[in-house]
Amino acid sequence: MSSQEENPPCPSPDMHFIGKKADIVKAGRVTMRVNGCRDVLVVYHQEKLYALDLRCYHAGGLLQDGDIEDFNGRLCIVCPCHKYKITLTEGEGLYEAVDNPTIRPLKTQWRSKGLKQRIHKVTEVSGDVFVTLNDSSEAIESDVYQTEKYRTVSLDALPKPKHKT
Ligand code: FES
Repeated sequence: MSSQEENPPCPSPDMHFIGKKADIVKAGRVTMRVNGCRDVLVVYHQEKLYALDLRCYHAGGLLQDGDIEDFNGRLCIVCPCHKYKITLTEGEGLYEAVDNPTIRPLKTQWRSKGLKQRIHKVTEVSGDVFVTLNDSSEAIESDVYQTEKYRTVSLDALPKPKHKT
């Protein structure tokens, strides 16, 4: 859609139109500045839609090219920059902890660092997809990268994905 007039009426004032579900399914990932104030990534994966802050809580890396992987039954987007894992439904940072480093072979467990990435609500109405921004007053680490300072940073200046050699 190219103009605001073409957007469907929003079912409620806090819901923001993202696009047609069919187009999002086809694209797999959509990024958008929502309500003029927040850069959001909408992901379609295994018949579900997720929305989260576009920039990674760690150092502002762009998440739209992150792989989606399951870690101990929890679906995560893996930041392309330094491979941090972020759960898609809660925004928790996950890490693999070693139980006891003196015991071989090492035994590891996936643990949570807590809520790190702001997750937003996605609603589908008659084939149209809307996002409701999570306006919780609780500070979340990914908020730092939603400030004007980071929005105006050239994409070239953001952390680059690390490629295996
Ligand atoms: S910027 Fe995402 S893991 Fe570092």
